[in-house]
Amino acid sequence: MDRMETGVLSEQRRSTRQRRSVKAVVKGVPVSEGAGVRLTRLIGHGGLRMLDPFLLFDEFRSEKRDDYAAGFPDHPHRGMETVTYMIEGRMAHRDSLGNSGVIGPGDAQWMTAGSGIIHSEMPAVENGRLWGLQLWVNLPAVRKMMPPRYQELSAARMPFVTDGSVTARVIAGAFGGVQGACDTIGEASLYLDVTVSPDARFTHILTDDTAFAFVLDGHGVFADDTAAGRCELLVFDGGDEVVAQAGSDGLRFILVAGAPIGEPVVSGGPFVMNTQEEIETAWKELRNGTFVKSGMGGRRS
Ligand code: FE2
Repeated sequence: MDRMETGVLSEQRRSTRQRRSVKAVVKGVPVSEGAGVRLTRLIGHGGLRMLDPFLLFDEFRSEKRDDYAAGFPDHPHRGMETVTYMIEGRMAHRDSLGNSGVIGPGDAQWMTAGSGIIHSEMPAVENGRLWGLQLWVNLPAVRKMMPPRYQELSAARMPFVTDGSVTARVIAGAFGGVQGACDTIGEASLYLDVTVSPDARFTHILTDDTAFAFVLDGHGVFADDTAAGRCELLVFDGGDEVVAQAGSDGLRFILVAGAPIGEPVVSGGPFVMNTQEEIETAWKELRNGTFVKSGMGGRRS
């Protein structure tokens, strides 16, 4: 998507770029979370414990109300960020910063739990499909106890970039020279929802150490040698360019990148800290009512 690069210069640069190969293709495992929501877990299970700085990546996708109706009632988080992106259906949310509302197709919420937040996420769908994604992004030790922050990123104001046969919703980071909706994003540097027309090619310069793609729909070949289809997650090796060739039915995928933190990770349910002692402190504060500190409030865009 280098609009400014043309001709000989562009060819020279392309020839020196290193295509990022696919080092793993991960299929999800079924899990039940919250009050009994059926999910597919792509990161955060035995096959892929974490992908620093990403701790967890879930897809919830079902037409059956019983699979999701119980939702995620009030629960705490500390030491990490949660990113929820809706594809179909609606989700009502409420949190201890005072934010509440409903997010629908194409909307995202980027919640930095920091020192602590309590929130609920409840499906607001009577019939039809609920389809969305949730990503957990770790915070480094120096920012684990930062004031919590909430950004609601509405589809109406989210940049949508079209370049020939590729379109991308820019949730975070930049694509095609367009900056995404999320203003600061911590260790995650990119979150795109990319659609590639049938038989067309996607290329994107991406030098961040950690990068993965998750296929939402269609089929394609990544890095010119790895075929993938719906609900498969591809972990990229190092390099500086991601390429994907869409199949005859087109290809839609999520592309996420970030910088590894490289610190000890100790998880205790919804808390992600550096030591077991910090996890015990979080549970103790939750019990004695001192868990939620003052926050900065939310931002809507
Ligand atoms: Fe949550």
